[in-house]
Amino acid sequence: DPPFSDHLQEDELTPDQNGDFISSLPTAGFLSQYRGFWITTRSMQGVLSLQKHFQAQETDIQMMTPPKVGTTWLKAILFAIVNRKHNLDLQKHPLLTNNPHILVPYLDLHFYNQKEVPDLTFFPSPRLFSAHLPYTLLPTSVKHSTCKIVHLYRNPKDTFVSLWHFLKNNGRTTDSFEGTFDEFCQGVSSFGPYWDHVLNYWKESLEKPQKILCLRYEELKEQPSTHLKKIAEFLECPFSSEEETKGMINDILRLCSFDYLNKLEVNKSGTTHNMKTESLFRLGEVGDWVNYLTPQMSKKLDDIFKEKFHGTGLTC
Ligand code: A3P
Repeated sequence: DPPFSDHLQEDELTPDQNGDFISSLPTAGFLSQYRGFWITTRSMQGVLSLQKHFQAQETDIQMMTPPKVGTTWLKAILFAIVNRKHNLDLQKHPLLTNNPHILVPYLDLHFYNQKEVPDLTFFPSPRLFSAHLPYTLLPTSVKHSTCKIVHLYRNPKDTFVSLWHFLKNNGRTTDSFEGTFDEFCQGVSSFGPYWDHVLNYWKESLEKPQKILCLRYEELKEQPSTHLKKIAEFLECPFSSEEETKGMINDILRLCSFDYLNKLEVNKSGTTHNMKTESLFRLGEVGDWVNYLTPQMSKKLDDIFKEKFHGTGLTC
């Protein structure tokens, strides 16, 4: 029998048994298959522990995104919106000296990847956390509390091209571009299948619009101030007319823009959670996929996503 077949549930595992459980999972390259999703193996310990131990607070804000859809950008935006009253002097803003992933930490990679259960109760409210977890893998307390979830998705072609560069730059694949593309189309990508990640949050957001906000990278790019207001309203900290008159929305957008963040010393070198920090800022544009995908590849993704998103109201 495989060691953890039907006999032992993951939530019964002791921390020492997690390693055995993780190595019993099917793998593909750097990924392990867990409950229908492909999770980066290095995140698995954190994911198991987070699922089991994380206790949501009513005022928490959880950013849940698939990788390469603009997570870094949204982290900067959410941090700036939520903490704007404490950071009126933009010349001293924490984003100037901290990578957005430090200000909005990954729960699995940052806190739950060790054996001890972290104490996160000392974080001032509202706590702003993130992970790449699909909806079905969220800790029960996140699903059941009144905490807010912000999800971001992006056109799958740009997501794939961004993922490819990221994997290459960080030595996370030995596969060819074509091989990685085929895997992506089969759903084998970190925290994928990508379409299931997007669809699950989308469907939940239709049922619980007060709890889950789904944003699209391309729309955020096209109408940034409209979306900033929408996010602030959703998080129940809307911009006052005084803040709007003072130009605070534009200030935050400028501070969080690709050009601005990309040029900061803190984002140019070093590593963040074992990722090259500079690899988080590549181009930051819509439509770069045309420079990489053949017409056949483009059609293949169109066909897959048209079928998966059919009748859902989602566009790819
Ligand atoms: P590209 O590779 O297409 O340039 P994630 O943060 O989820 O890893 O996503 C990375 C993608 O978001 C990269 O896309 C990156 O360049 C882009 N990005 C990073 N910061 C951004 C910003 N401030 N504004 C817009 N896009 C940004």
